[in-house]
Amino acid sequence: MADLILEQLTIAYGDVTAVDNISLSVPSGEFLTLLGPSGCGKSTTLFSVAGLNQATSGVIRIGDTVLFDGGKGISVEPEHRNIGLVFQSYALWPHMSVGENLAFPLKLRKVNKSERDTRIKEALGLVEMSDYINRYPFELSGGQQQRVALARALVYRPGLLLLDEPLSNLDAKLRERARVWLRELQERLQVTTVYVTHDQAEALAVSDRIAVMSEGRIRQLGTPKEIYETPTDAFVADFIGSSNFLKGKLIERNGPWATVQLSNGSVLRAGAGKGELSGDVVIAVRPERVEVVGEPGENIVQVSLNSGAYLGSVYQYEVSGPGGHYRIQTSKEMSSKQAYVRIPPEAATLFAADSVPQAA
Ligand SMILES: Nc1ncnc2c1ncn2[C@@H]1O[C@H](COP(=O)(O)OP(=O)(O)OP(=O)(O)O)[C@@H](O)[C@H]1O
Ligand SMILES: [Mg+2]
Repeated sequence: MADLILEQLTIAYGDVTAVDNISLSVPSGEFLTLLGPSGCGKSTTLFSVAGLNQATSGVIRIGDTVLFDGGKGISVEPEHRNIGLVFQSYALWPHMSVGENLAFPLKLRKVNKSERDTRIKEALGLVEMSDYINRYPFELSGGQQQRVALARALVYRPGLLLLDEPLSNLDAKLRERARVWLRELQERLQVTTVYVTHDQAEALAVSDRIAVMSEGRIRQLGTPKEIYETPTDAFVADFIGSSNFLKGKLIERNGPWATVQLSNGSVLRAGAGKGELSGDVVIAVRPERVEVVGEPGENIVQVSLNSGAYLGSVYQYEVSGPGGHYRIQTSKEMSSKQAYVRIPPEAATLFAADSVPQAA
């Protein structure tokens, strides 16, 4: 198996640029997730790798094999790309049994009958659906249908697996189980996989690396831990998990630390952030890192409670204070309308105020 390489890939539909100059390399055996909000270009990217849409420019390669080269006018037919696909809307053929659904892509590739039977048995075994070979899709649950769809994608032993929201029809519990199972299967087969989701918890749980996309571009590429703990900008900080953005003015930066003044005059210390910053900034801090404390002190502000909810494992509170609204997740129940909260400097990072997503 080989690496998947995208070089300066651009895909336009008329005057809409859905994918804007993406370069990405997925090493053999990696599970890489494209994560981003609706319309950011995830499916368009996958479709172009599969050959189901035509990129506008750039190069798509698997190892040394060129699948698409805009400059040279090369575009390999989808059935010759040796790629397995599972799309949310890529349903099983309803008039064919499970066995016939799996036989179809093999017939297309002119695999003989006895070899077909062996491979179908093998693929159904992988997804634990061997007993269902003679059933029709309408006789299966949603989760079973998605497992058969995965078997159909694996049956011709593709070098690359592309999965576009393959678990989206499952309920929350089943989806959690299915993603663990899918990841185990992928590791066992060592098949290079590009997975698409807009569910950030799912992306964090299953991926070796995540490419966070917005508006056709990759905003950050890294391991789940890197993306969550050191987001490169306010968009990523807000999209992966959630973040509070407290507005203030930058007073000074000193090595890894910065001092920021909030609207009521209180002064907070926070991580200095990256790049050029001056004037209006935000302090980004995760809801679970804000600490509810008993009294005023360093890096502590007074807030008033707007609303609260008990989420089972934690309490979640919406409060107002200097710098704006905060969301807090804590195991401590807040007992009064007024409280003090501490923003731990090591859990707080600066970003430019104008980089904060509008909805945040
Ligand atoms: N066939 C098409 N013709 C014109 N525009 C399209 C076409 N397909 C997609 N687009 C546009 O390209 C952009 C990217 O779409 P894409 O389907 O890749 O998004 P996505 O990230 O997969 O979103 P979602 O999470 O909603 O599936 C969107 O603005 C979309 O409206
Ligand atoms: Mg999509």
